[in-house]
Amino acid sequence: MTMTGAASDGRPADALIFRLRGVRYLYHGRHLALDGIDLDIYRGEQVALLGANGCGKSTLLKLLDGLLAPSAGSMLAFGEDILPVVAGQEAFRFHREVGLVFQDPDVQLFNATVYDDVAFGPLQLGLSPGEVKIRCDEALALMDATHLAQRAPFELSGGEKKRAAIASVLSLHPEVLLLDEPTAALDPRTKWVLINLIRNLGQSGKTIVTATHDLDIVPIIAHRVVVIGEDRRVLADGHPETILRDHDLLVRANLIHPELHELSFHHVHSP
Ligand SMILES: Nc1ncnc2c1ncn2[C@@H]1O[C@H](COP(=O)(O)OP(=O)(O)OP(=O)(O)O)[C@@H](O)[C@H]1O
Ligand SMILES: [Mg+2]
Repeated sequence: MTMTGAASDGRPADALIFRLRGVRYLYHGRHLALDGIDLDIYRGEQVALLGANGCGKSTLLKLLDGLLAPSAGSMLAFGEDILPVVAGQEAFRFHREVGLVFQDPDVQLFNATVYDDVAFGPLQLGLSPGEVKIRCDEALALMDATHLAQRAPFELSGGEKKRAAIASVLSLHPEVLLLDEPTAALDPRTKWVLINLIRNLGQSGKTIVTATHDLDIVPIIAHRVVVIGEDRRVLADGHPETILRDHDLLVRANLIHPELHELSFHHVHSP
């Protein structure tokens, strides 16, 4: 998919992966989830998406993944209108390039075994059995989930499910990776593995958008932070250092609570 001309900030137009203008989304035509999102995401960016519960992060990721169509406003992906993708006409081509790890792993895992879930995408791509196996073994190993391959997803723990769900998207080798709270429910070792994986994938040029409540990981996994406010619009967009130092902004966006923050700070730093 290509675009002609140049993007508005001087970067080549084909570097622009997503362009959203005034995007609103209402569930069932009445429950407002996003209220006018303007956002450009460029190839090779690693973006952290922050915001309070219910401000629309997961909804935005589903829009970026072509699962939901904007109720109002416009959205381009790879320079083309997203609507045919949502309608299913271009979905196969689109999902070779864009993969979403859902917040809830139960949505992602629907086969009899973890291996079948991880193999599902590569099989859909029409890869040879040998290539499918290589991709599955690699993705499971990356998520430290090789031992889970023959287990049924429904009998796994929350964190194990999460690892399997992430592996099932990694096996697709998407250019654009959308991660919805990927570190939620992970133990510290697995979290560290995942953070490094995101960092390495970013360094290898992948475009990664991660919704998270885990502020500690943001500077490691992202070069850019987009904060969605409780009014369901972009409240701030900038460097992780600048945003994470802005105490008032973090409080306003309900990303930290002043008293909780003070208490945990003193607890950790008291002699
Ligand atoms: N299937 C649905 N039907 C109706 N309303 C929904 C649905 N899914 C989400 N919503 C509503 O849309 C709004 C945005 O939800 P969303 O899941 O995008 O928030 P979020 O920022 O991801 O929150 P969290 O931090 O809790 O994951 C919320 O008010 C939510 O109640
Ligand atoms: Mg969410």
